[in-house]
Amino acid sequence: MSISEKFWNKKAEDYSKSSISDEESYNRKLSETQALFTPDMHILEFGCGTGTTAIHHAPHVKHIHAIDISENMLDIGRAKAKEASIENIEFTKGTLIEFNAESASLDAVLGLNIIHLLKDRKDSLADVARILKPGGVFVSSTACLGGSYLRFIKFLAPLGKLLGLMPDLFILKEAELAKEIEDAGFKIETQWHHSLHNMAVFIIARKIDS
Ligand SMILES: C[S@@+](CC[C@H](N)C(=O)[O-])C[C@H]1O[C@@H](n2cnc3c(N)ncnc32)[C@H](O)[C@@H]1O
Repeated sequence: MSISEKFWNKKAEDYSKSSISDEESYNRKLSETQALFTPDMHILEFGCGTGTTAIHHAPHVKHIHAIDISENMLDIGRAKAKEASIENIEFTKGTLIEFNAESASLDAVLGLNIIHLLKDRKDSLADVARILKPGGVFVSSTACLGGSYLRFIKFLAPLGKLLGLMPDLFILKEAELAKEIEDAGFKIETQWHHSLHNMAVFIIARKIDS
């Protein structure tokens, strides 16, 4: 089991009980995402955590693959979906690359609070482009600490990871992330960030037809 998997398994229970830090932005993200959906859509969320966002979106689409490396997160997600009588979310363990979805098979892919945690970020962005249908959308929200006073964390991260106190964590700049998404074959349609104290950047990007 990887250090990150262990970290997130340990964190799962507390994560499921934690409250949303910025409700206004969270609700804005939900509604901007749902504006993209139609009831016939097949979507995938990678790094789904305990499934909170997938459960919000489930009534608006046909089917959601929700994947995560942490079995504990997924178990909580499965229980919450059952409790909410949601039957169109399939929870599966693994990374995006391991999941290996069929090419051009999905209408939308969601990666929320996950891209800055990925060792294989560029390969993952390329995989998102591969598995989306032409014109499909990629919705992401990503902590970009590179331009903030928190950028010093990059010096602490290796030790934090070694001690099991931190998962894999990469310090990105917003412009760098936007360029990587575009380079993977997307046109960015929406890009905004929360507030000065919360460096999450929300991006909706559409796959460019090739
Ligand atoms: C910060 S949480 C975000 C959870 C959820 N997306 C949300 O916005 O609340 C990060 C999640 O990504 C998962 N994760 C970390 N690395 C991953 C990877 N390489 N592939 C898939 N999931 C991963 C963790 O297990 C954790 O559930």
